[in-house]
Amino acid sequence: MIDLSHRHVLVIGGTGTIGSAIVMRALERSAAVTATASSPDRFDHSSPAEWISLDVRSGVAVDTAVGAVPGLTDIVLAAAARPFAGLVDMDDDDLRSLVDTKLWGAFHVGRAAARHLPDDGSLTFISGLLAGYPDAAAPVAAVSAAVEALGRGLAVELAPRRVNIVSPDSLGSPGRGRHHGTASDVADLILGCITNEWLSGTVLEIHGAGKP
Ligand SMILES: NC(=O)c1ccc[n+]([C@@H]2O[C@H](COP(=O)([O-])OP(=O)(O)OC[C@H]3O[C@@H](n4cnc5c(N)ncnc54)[C@H](OP(=O)(O)O)[C@@H]3O)[C@@H](O)[C@H]2O)c1
Repeated sequence: MIDLSHRHVLVIGGTGTIGSAIVMRALERSAAVTATASSPDRFDHSSPAEWISLDVRSGVAVDTAVGAVPGLTDIVLAAAARPFAGLVDMDDDDLRSLVDTKLWGAFHVGRAAARHLPDDGSLTFISGLLAGYPDAAAPVAAVSAAVEALGRGLAVELAPRRVNIVSPDSLGSPGRGRHHGTASDVADLILGCITNEWLSGTVLEIHGAGKP
């Protein structure tokens, strides 16, 4: 198992619900952490992470930011606009912001990972359980499924670097258990993706037996 105290993790979307939990968990395990926010006024100055601003919609900005992280070993993409509605209820602006951040963001980050991650590096995407069990918000399901396909393909394309995808149900869902899923539960699974050296090309669902 990889020792996180020797790693430098870039959390893209470190201000988000899941991203901030990943930042916290990685710092607790002594990783060096760089976190991104969409603008400087969103930096969390209470966190000892290094903060940078980044818009994942720009491939040039992503490549520059990823290339500038010293000793970078691991990237987690937790940034996305999150409009949640059916296709007929979603206007074009929301649809575009979903695709531009969650899918184009993954393309940009995947390409930057190819250029800047070391051979023992890892990349983790977050999709969403709707990818495999679409029962609402078809556009979110479609984009999440594309992110999973991209991640599995990149595990081949970027090898020996490892690429995995974590697919959570909606936070707060109990599934069929008693525990209501939290951002920390998702973060713990993502740290497992970083530290488990045999894990690559895998979609890890987390839902407390909630689906199907
Ligand atoms: N929450 C859930 O129940 C759930 C379930 C399944 C899957 N997911 C997936 O998990 C991921 C994270 O979700 P979350 O709940 O943590 O989202 P969130 O709390 O809404 O946070 C979204 C993050 O994305 C960043 N962001 C938005 N637009 C950006 C842009 N153009 N460039 C760079 N950063 C941008 C935000 O930055 P600022 O705060 O700086 O604006 C923030 O850090 C998403 O892909 C989501 O689809 C979430």
